[in-house]
Amino acid sequence: MRLHIINGPNLNNIGRREPNIYGNISFSDYLHELKNIFDKFEISYSNSHFESDLVDLIHQSDGKFDGIILNAGAYSHTSVAIRDAVAAIKVPVVLVHISNVYAREPFRNRNMIAPVCEGIITGFGLKSYEIAIKSFVE
Ligand code: DQA
Repeated sequence: MRLHIINGPNLNNIGRREPNIYGNISFSDYLHELKNIFDKFEISYSNSHFESDLVDLIHQSDGKFDGIILNAGAYSHTSVAIRDAVAAIKVPVVLVHISNVYAREPFRNRNMIAPVCEGIITGFGLKSYEIAIKSFVE
């Protein structure tokens, strides 16, 4: 099983950024942990602050991976381009949010990308990624 974790803007800063919301573990440390937990999986990781890069990464993943785990960060609430990229590919995409976006500011309640995803996992901290990977097991 080949999975591609794609993180959007500001997610490189997890561990330092608003630790009361996102915790204090860096994403690279967590990724190391994830790869140990799912050692039978081939897990690739990409991160960009740029919407166009995220569109490219989604297109390029089609046919190369069995699934995408996408945290588009703030673009989740605004990006028609990323939504269209997800809708255009065959590989299933699970949308992940570290925080519970529905328990935060009202502008985070709108999610442009969720309706074209297989599923959405939000609010379990970094464990959201683990739950998303497990959704590909069956
Ligand atoms: C986030 C939630 C978004 O609203 C926010 O802009 C982020 C992180 C999350 O993982 O909880 O950057 O996607």
